[in-house]
Amino acid sequence: MASTDRIPMGRMHIDDEMRATTARILDSGAWIKGPESKAFGAEWAEYCGAISGVPCSNGSVALIAALQVLGIGPGDEVIVPSHTYIASATCINLVQATPIFVEVEEDYYTIDPDAIEGAITDRTRAIIAVHLYGQPVDPRVFEIGRSRGIPVIEDSAQGHGGSLNGQRIGSFGDIATFSFFPSKNMAVGGDGGAIITTRPDLTEHIRMFIDHGRSDKYRNDILGTNFRLSEIQCGIGRVQLKHLDGWVNRRNKIADRYLSSFEELGLNLPVVRPSAVHAWHQFVLRVADREAFIKHMDSKGISTGIHYPIPCHLQPIFASHPQGNLGSLPFTENLCDHIVSIPVFPLLEDEEVDRIIDAVCSFKL
Ligand SMILES: Cc1ncc(COP(=O)(O)O)c(C=O)c1O
Repeated sequence: MASTDRIPMGRMHIDDEMRATTARILDSGAWIKGPESKAFGAEWAEYCGAISGVPCSNGSVALIAALQVLGIGPGDEVIVPSHTYIASATCINLVQATPIFVEVEEDYYTIDPDAIEGAITDRTRAIIAVHLYGQPVDPRVFEIGRSRGIPVIEDSAQGHGGSLNGQRIGSFGDIATFSFFPSKNMAVGGDGGAIITTRPDLTEHIRMFIDHGRSDKYRNDILGTNFRLSEIQCGIGRVQLKHLDGWVNRRNKIADRYLSSFEELGLNLPVVRPSAVHAWHQFVLRVADREAFIKHMDSKGISTGIHYPIPCHLQPIFASHPQGNLGSLPFTENLCDHIVSIPVFPLLEDEEVDRIIDAVCSFKL
């Protein structure tokens, strides 16, 4: 890699085992509903510490399936942070329930448990806790859910491999959803996702929901649809899973170097929750003049991202929502004006990490 090559925000891992797996499954002719999806669902659930799981088409439909399986619909309210990817919120509208947007914690950027307490009404039917950027959500969120009898869905699309007190993301709530979109911590060679659960009473319902509510080939017992994932993708996911711990480790090594190198710069750095292994899906700084920072990094050949520039409640689709105006969630609104992500993917080479550090350190605040 030449020292002047542009550094992207991500780079794909593709290896011979993935190629051989693809060819093997292709030649087998078993392209859907075969041994790979069964094994991948079970292996993924076990890795996360849940009791069962199924792969599905992507992380967005995984959220819709989770809400459907919990019986959420018209008249119901679901509490969700506004600072997240849009799919965490729109899934609620897609089951005809109402999102209630709340703030994130100022240090950790994940849903604020105190804000949840203030947002609960007698119509609250679920909480969507997003492990944003790979930071594990405050465990108090799950205690609130348990004590109030409100199910918690972990939107873990950015959390693969993260943990808190040794417990993996995906095993804290009632249901956890994942995305295997190509840029995520783990991928499946296309769009992909998974739904896992810690509740024995939901296992069968989840499995049936993503396969037309089928109990038998021609028997459909409950409402469902086709949210399945292909066998080839499940096979690729199983290969990628073998690398996940190594990749999360590498992300942590890079993040540690950033944190120690940027300590004195006066930038607002990400904070890792105590006793957490951060999954570092994104490394997000807060800078006063974001445009100048992005321009500076660009001039050094380094890509940046903004995750995300517009809070969900201010998206045009929520213009008629009671919270759909500036001032509803001041911390989130301010945060979204200043955040910027720098590359933290595991295939970064050491000299690329050096270049990123030099570039950030040479930015004049
Ligand atoms: C927090 C969060 N939730 C949900 C999703 C949706 O996942 P997918 O793109 O696989 O539909 C994403 C993907 O970017 C995400 O980051």
